[in-house]
Amino acid sequence: MSKPKILVVGSMNMDLFVRDCNALPAYGQSIISGDYGYATGGKGSNQAFAAARLGGDVTMVGRIGRDNNGDQLLQSLTGAGVNVRYVVRDGEAQTGLALMLVNSDGRYVCYVSIGANYRLSVDDVRRALDAEHFDMLVMQLEIPLETVYATVALARERNIPVFLDAGPAMTLPMERLKGLYILSPNEAEAEALTGISVQTEEGALAAAKWLYEKAAPKYVILKLGARGALLYDGAQAKRIPGFKVDAVDSTAAGDTFGAALAIGLCKGKPIEAAIVTAHAAAGICVSRQGAQVSVPTEAEVEQFLRERTGGAE
Ligand code: RIB
Repeated sequence: MSKPKILVVGSMNMDLFVRDCNALPAYGQSIISGDYGYATGGKGSNQAFAAARLGGDVTMVGRIGRDNNGDQLLQSLTGAGVNVRYVVRDGEAQTGLALMLVNSDGRYVCYVSIGANYRLSVDDVRRALDAEHFDMLVMQLEIPLETVYATVALARERNIPVFLDAGPAMTLPMERLKGLYILSPNEAEAEALTGISVQTEEGALAAAKWLYEKAAPKYVILKLGARGALLYDGAQAKRIPGFKVDAVDSTAAGDTFGAALAIGLCKGKPIEAAIVTAHAAAGICVSRQGAQVSVPTEAEVEQFLRERTGGAE
C-alpha cells in the first residue's frame, strides 16, 4: 500500500525549553528553574515530522529565516523524510522561536516569537497545491489567519480534506472555516473559540456542538488531556479515553495526536480506531522530553498498542 500523501501547512519554530518551572514569576521577579535545552519544534513542523515518522509521504509548507535555527529545522524534517521543497527561506525575518516553560508534571506555558511564520502567504501554499495532489491537508493557527482561510478554500476547490488543529488558543470567525473535514481543539483552544468551559462532560459536549454548528466540519474532536478525546459527528458524541503514561513533557503531544489521526484516516482506519492510535502516539510523546525528538515511530506506536490493548483498537 502506498504511503498517504499529506501536506502540512504551518509554523516552524526552534523551541527553547526550561524544566522545573513550577511557579510563574510576577513582573520584575526572577525564579530559579531547572535545566534548559533546544529542540526543533513549531506546531506545523512537529505535525510534518510526526506524520512522516508515522508512515506518511509528507510535504511541508512553511517559512523560516536564513539563520542557524532555520537550518536545524530543515535538517530535522529532511532527516525524517519530509519534502521541504516548499519551505521558504525568508531573508527579512528570523526563524520563529518558542520559549517553553515546562513544570515538573510535564505541562508548559509558552511564548512564541513568531518571526517568519507570520509571513507565510497563500501563494506559498498554492505553489505546493498546484504542483502535486495530496490525500489530506493538515494545518494549525500559528500562521496568518488570512492564509488559513485561503488555504481552506483552495483545498476545498481541489477536494482535499482539511484537518485543522485549532492551536494556539484564540477567537475566530468560525464561518470562515466552513467545510473542514476535522476541527480539533484542545481544552484551552475549545474554550477560547466557544466561550464555553469544557471542564465537565456537559460543557465539553456543548462546546463540540457549538463548533459543529458554526464551522460544519465532518467531525469535531476535542482533545481533553487526561480525559481522552470527545468525538462529535453532528448526531452522536463519544468520549474515547487515552492511555495513562508517566508524563515528562506534553510539548508536541497534540501535534503528534493530529498527525497520527490524519495518517490513520488516510490509511482507511475507522475514526474511532484512528483516535485510539492517535492517543497511543501522543501518550508516548508525553512520556519523553522535547518536541520532535519525542515523537514515536509507527513501529513504536504499534508496539505500545500491542502492550496496552493486545492490538485491538
Ligand atoms: O505544539 C507545540 C509547539 O507549539 C511547540 O513545539 C512550540 O514551537 C509551539 O509552536
